[in-house]
Amino acid sequence: MDINEAVAAGTARARAHDAGELLTLQLAAWVREGREARRIDIPPLLEELSDVAAQLADPALTIWVYRDSTARMIATVRTSLLSPTTAFLGRLGVVPDRSGEGIGGAMLRLAESRVPAAVTRMELITGVRSVSNHRFYQNRGYQFIPLVRPDDGQPVVRLAKELNRQ
Ligand SMILES: CC(C)(COP(=O)(O)OP(=O)(O)OC[C@H]1O[C@@H](n2cnc3c(N)ncnc32)[C@H](O)[C@@H]1OP(=O)(O)O)[C@@H](O)C(=O)NCCC(=O)NCCS
Repeated sequence: MDINEAVAAGTARARAHDAGELLTLQLAAWVREGREARRIDIPPLLEELSDVAAQLADPALTIWVYRDSTARMIATVRTSLLSPTTAFLGRLGVVPDRSGEGIGGAMLRLAESRVPAAVTRMELITGVRSVSNHRFYQNRGYQFIPLVRPDDGQPVVRLAKELNRQ
């Protein structure tokens, strides 16, 4: 089984009881972006358990979590609809000790493949200083596009990709 198959087989919609593990995964994964951006006050590092629980209860968010064969939560990603044809992708994160194994790329592909059939475009934002994220997404078909809203003190860049859906 290759990494894409393993991730597809082990990924399911997150549920209310996943909140604690999801918060732990988020805090562990985003320290890397925080270091790169040289700031700790980024939303994934500021949220509390109640925030994650509220997100899990939000019907507008589709939150995926990947668990390995031991049931450990390894990765997450989420999507929501900006319009019937454009999905927003966020919070793609992998536990630090499993980075570089292709799991992030597989989660990205999985999220793109599981958006509603009418979706033909993905958009995301990431930190302006997170250059390894820029490279990661550019290597997977995403291109910089203009920001549509002023940042709220967290300088970000926006990327998009047209999906080639069969
Ligand atoms: C971005 C992230 C999801 C990638 O996950 P991953 O499982 O390591 O990704 P893959 O193994 O599929 O690909 C590795 C890529 O990450 C890059 N990378 C950056 N730092 C890395 C590290 N310490 N170890 C391994 N890969 C790293 C590699 O250059 C590679 O990119 P490339 O294939 O385009 O050259 C993960 O690093 C992460 O959770 N980062 C923190 C959270 C975050 O910033 N998420 C994105 C914002 S929405």
